[in-house]
Amino acid sequence: MEGPWPRAMAAWWWWMSLLLLGIAGCGGVLQVHGQVDNLGFISLDCGLPENAAGYVDSTTKLRFTSDAGFINAGTNHNMSSEYITPLMGKSWHNVRSFGGGAGARSCYTLGPLVAGLKHLVRAKFMYGNYDGLNKAPVFDLHVGVNYWTTVNISNANTPEIYEIIAVVPGDSAEVCLVNTGSGTPFISALDLRPLENGLYPMSNSTQGLVLLTRSNFGPTDGVILRYPDDPHDRFWIPQSKPTEWSEISTAKRVHNMEGSSFDVPSAVMQTAVTPINSSSPIQFTWDAEPSANVPDPGYICILHFSELQPLPVNALRQFYVTLNGQLWLGKGLTPQYLYTNAVFNGIPSHGSHQYNVSLNATTNSTVPPILNAIEIFSVLPTTGITTATQDVSAMAAIRGMYKVKKNWMGDPCMPKNFAWKGLGCSYTVSSPPIVTGLNLSSSGLSGNLSSSFAGLKGLQYLDLSRNNLTGSIPDTLSQLSSLTLIDLTDNQLNGSIPPGLVKRTQDGSLTLRYGNNPNLCSSGNYCRPLEKQKNSTDTSLYKYQWKRLILVILVLSVVILCIKMRRQGRTRRVSRDHTLRTTRGTYRYGSITVGSRIVN
Ligand SMILES: *[C@@H]1O[C@H](CO)[C@@H](O)[C@H](O)[C@H]1NC(C)=O
Ligand SMILES: *[C@@H]1O[C@H](CO)[C@@H](O)[C@H](O)[C@H]1NC(C)=O
Ligand SMILES: *[C@@H]1O[C@H](CO)[C@@H](O)[C@H](O)[C@H]1NC(C)=O
Ligand SMILES: *[C@@H]1O[C@H](CO)[C@@H](O)[C@H](O)[C@H]1NC(C)=O
Ligand SMILES: *[C@@H]1O[C@H](CO)[C@@H](O)[C@H](O)[C@H]1NC(C)=O
Ligand SMILES: *[C@@H]1O[C@H](CO)[C@@H](O)[C@H](O)[C@H]1NC(C)=O
Ligand SMILES: *[C@@H]1O[C@H](CO)[C@@H](O)[C@H](O)[C@H]1NC(C)=O
Ligand SMILES: *[C@@H]1O[C@H](CO)[C@@H](O)[C@H](O)[C@H]1NC(C)=O
Ligand SMILES: *[C@@H]1O[C@H](CO)[C@@H](O)[C@H](O)[C@H]1NC(C)=O
Ligand SMILES: *[C@@H]1O[C@H](CO)[C@@H](O)[C@H](O)[C@H]1NC(C)=O
Ligand SMILES: *[C@@H]1O[C@H](CO)[C@@H](O)[C@H](O)[C@H]1NC(C)=O
Ligand SMILES: *[C@@H]1O[C@H](CO)[C@@H](O)[C@H](O)[C@H]1NC(C)=O
Repeated sequence: MEGPWPRAMAAWWWWMSLLLLGIAGCGGVLQVHGQVDNLGFISLDCGLPENAAGYVDSTTKLRFTSDAGFINAGTNHNMSSEYITPLMGKSWHNVRSFGGGAGARSCYTLGPLVAGLKHLVRAKFMYGNYDGLNKAPVFDLHVGVNYWTTVNISNANTPEIYEIIAVVPGDSAEVCLVNTGSGTPFISALDLRPLENGLYPMSNSTQGLVLLTRSNFGPTDGVILRYPDDPHDRFWIPQSKPTEWSEISTAKRVHNMEGSSFDVPSAVMQTAVTPINSSSPIQFTWDAEPSANVPDPGYICILHFSELQPLPVNALRQFYVTLNGQLWLGKGLTPQYLYTNAVFNGIPSHGSHQYNVSLNATTNSTVPPILNAIEIFSVLPTTGITTATQDVSAMAAIRGMYKVKKNWMGDPCMPKNFAWKGLGCSYTVSSPPIVTGLNLSSSGLSGNLSSSFAGLKGLQYLDLSRNNLTGSIPDTLSQLSSLTLIDLTDNQLNGSIPPGLVKRTQDGSLTLRYGNNPNLCSSGNYCRPLEKQKNSTDTSLYKYQWKRLILVILVLSVVILCIKMRRQGRTRRVSRDHTLRTTRGTYRYGSITVGSRIVN
């Protein structure tokens, strides 16, 4: 087979693919809501308006839904009408595109999933001049914190489909589009399919498989096999070469061996090719596709075989498999009748521009070789370090509670250049990154203080100033041993400062700013006064300084004495604290002046 295989077949097969997927648009309308269907599948029509009903593909009976519930960014656009054809599936008609400029990362969060399970993720793109710029972009795809591939849209009406098989470490899969400065990223559709962990054993927690091609040999009807023929909804693209290969097929079911690593559907295995010239080998070729990120991709080629003809006892089908002239197995291979066998190169092949696979008959063979299906993958390291799990969970909860948008997508701290805005992260060689700072000042937050803040065990500062936060301050924050600054200035908090925090401020390990919370420590909620620095001009509680301890205690004693003497008149000392000026005549925590250790 000449030329780079996937590209060569692109035009024809993709149109066939469109034909197939086209039927999707004719399906009925389903009003089912929910994220993952009962198969564990997620099928998103990206750019479908949030309130639009999902729809069912009449061929596969799979339901497409809007992607709106899976991402917090991007805008919906329709493909330019001249690119819409009657056969085209509905999911191609619209896209979601992601402005934000070079360096911006926009991520889908697909879930909830069973953590640690292997999944197939498929991203689909057709530009269709949706933006009227007539300029197809180039951008990167990441899966979690790992580079996956570069999407290079060659022209406006060619669908591009990218697939990866990878272990998803957490309970959701993040698929990110990254603007690399060559146009605005967009996406047409996104699929996620769970796979049992026993499938594709070469994919594990540190290695993913990026699909180059997946071919079903034999059929000339042009039909792509997928769900429900394939319970895992892989796309098996038909391959034939009528001048060199003849088709063999059977109506009998082809079985997988117990514990099969690939679970190739019977419908795929029921067809195969064999050379017309019985003394010729079956050969195919693919070109390496190096990129800036992966200059020398390593390839794994999986060949799926089954004998489809009941051979007489004196006949033998036996052949060698060679890759670039190197014999794979030390011996000839004989496919089993109606049972699927697979051979593959366990160690990925590197260092070549082109790879040739040849199946040639052994001298003892009486019938020519046979080939039912192949899959070719490049291996991808998925060893990118992720933020500590408990911090990822806490940040996800905080993002969810306050509906924070910013660039809060994907992993909070990784990769470094995509870390969430307002987050401080610590990066050490020996352990995963942790969140050490959170600045959500002036972020329009409302509602209670999330208990998840206390889940960020490495937090050193927490700035929630200038928001509309209500309710009381949770004492759990006092358990964050690294926390040295909390800024709650300018909110609507009420209640009192909890004792744990009081203690932390008193022992000098924490600075708490809480000014301009009109109902904090208001009448009925006396706050125990805390240590304050002399001539403080704001509502901060300053760190205790041992050198001043003696002095402060002396001053305090004097002050307490003075106040006791002045109690009768209920006179208050004047504070320069702005909060005090707004009080309604009661002592308020944080509005107390110089060394005023006054127990109210
Ligand atoms: C896309 O087209 C549909 C009709 O097919 C229309 O209802 C919708 O408003 C269009 N959306 C945009 C963003 O132009
Ligand atoms: C995208 O593909 C085109 C043609 O295939 C190529 O000329 C161009 O260099 C590619 N761009 C990138 C950024 O890889
Ligand atoms: C994943 O597979 C690769 C290649 O077989 C191997 O080098 C690596 O150690 C495996 N990783 C794990 C976590 O098993
Ligand atoms: C069949 O293949 C063999 C070896 O490749 C070749 O020598 C022979 O000429 C071919 N026969 C025909 C009819 O093409
Ligand atoms: C692969 O096969 C083609 C055609 O048979 C040949 O030109 C090329 O040199 C081969 N490549 C390798 C790496 O063997
Ligand atoms: C078939 O493969 C074997 C082993 O690589 C090789 O020795 C033999 O020449 C090949 N035969 C043909 C016809 O290519
Ligand atoms: C071919 O058959 C002979 C006799 O049965 C046997 O000795 C030889 O090992 C076989 N060769 C191969 C490659 O299987
Ligand atoms: C938080 O960000 C604001 C500006 O957005 C800045 O003024 C403030 O100092 C930051 N807080 C901390 C604790 O760094
Ligand atoms: C608080 O909420 C009110 C209305 O709910 C809004 O007008 C105001 O701008 C908000 N303030 C801040 C700091 O977000
Ligand atoms: C906020 O916290 C208060 C207790 O401090 C609780 O009664 C209330 O239900 C909480 N509100 C929300 C929206 O969680
Ligand atoms: C604080 O405000 C919330 C509403 O924001 C209210 O439900 C709660 O009772 C208030 N608590 C105190 C102690 O005033
Ligand atoms: C606080 O008082 C000290 C002397 O006790 C003085 O040097 C300092 O300038 C004062 N600071 C402010 C902000 O008033």
